[in-house]
Amino acid sequence: MVLLYEGKAKRVYATESPTQVRVEFKDSATAFNGQKKAEIGGKGTVNAAVSAQLLTHLANHGLATHFVKQLDARNLLVERLTMIGLEVVVRNRVAGSLHERTGLPEGTKIDIPVVEFYFKNDALGDPLLNDDHVRLLGLASDDLLAQLRREALRINGILESFFLQRQIVLVDFKLEFGFNADGALTLGDEISPDTCRLWDAQSGERLDKDRFRRDLGGVEEAYQEVYRRVMQ
Ligand code: TMP
Repeated sequence: MVLLYEGKAKRVYATESPTQVRVEFKDSATAFNGQKKAEIGGKGTVNAAVSAQLLTHLANHGLATHFVKQLDARNLLVERLTMIGLEVVVRNRVAGSLHERTGLPEGTKIDIPVVEFYFKNDALGDPLLNDDHVRLLGLASDDLLAQLRREALRINGILESFFLQRQIVLVDFKLEFGFNADGALTLGDEISPDTCRLWDAQSGERLDKDRFRRDLGGVEEAYQEVYRRVMQ
């Protein structure tokens, strides 16, 4: 099958259908814009299954997602999208770059979720953009930006309660959107421990990629624990 694109954690292949692609989830992990690299055993299968489960859950709540079906342990069939060049981050607690930017203590609860837009541009290190920067770069109109914010907040509400039922606090996460063949705004990419911060609701233990980013150990075990709880 023709390889259309290879990223740091996934490969995208063409299928017989011009409107569908196959996404293969790799065990490779990178952090800090590719400066840190490793293989995380089982990550590909965990991220494929967790993404399939979460995207199905969102679709059941009426959201448009690219997910079609899971093909095998590490491959998903998805709709082909024309992607918007933005990463949309939603935050319910202070962590990561928001902690570094504001100095607020990690774990601080955020009453009104914070939505941020980042420029998908590896050469620039995916910088944070304000609305004027998005307009300047022509990445999204004001209407589309407002729509992305609404969709992201709706997804946040659905995912927050999904995870809380599984004793996990959804601290923050990253989404990517695009347009399908019919021109409909559609959620793409993955939702996994690579793209979410997930903390155990009782102990606060990190159950996500921060274990790799910060050398906390127990990376594979954390991914398996998220798999176990999400699939239950
Ligand atoms: P940040 O605190 O580093 O800005 O990350 C916010 C959220 O976005 C966190 O859940 C991890 C996720 N994320 C990605 O999925 N990809 C990335 O490249 C980065 C930097 C963060």
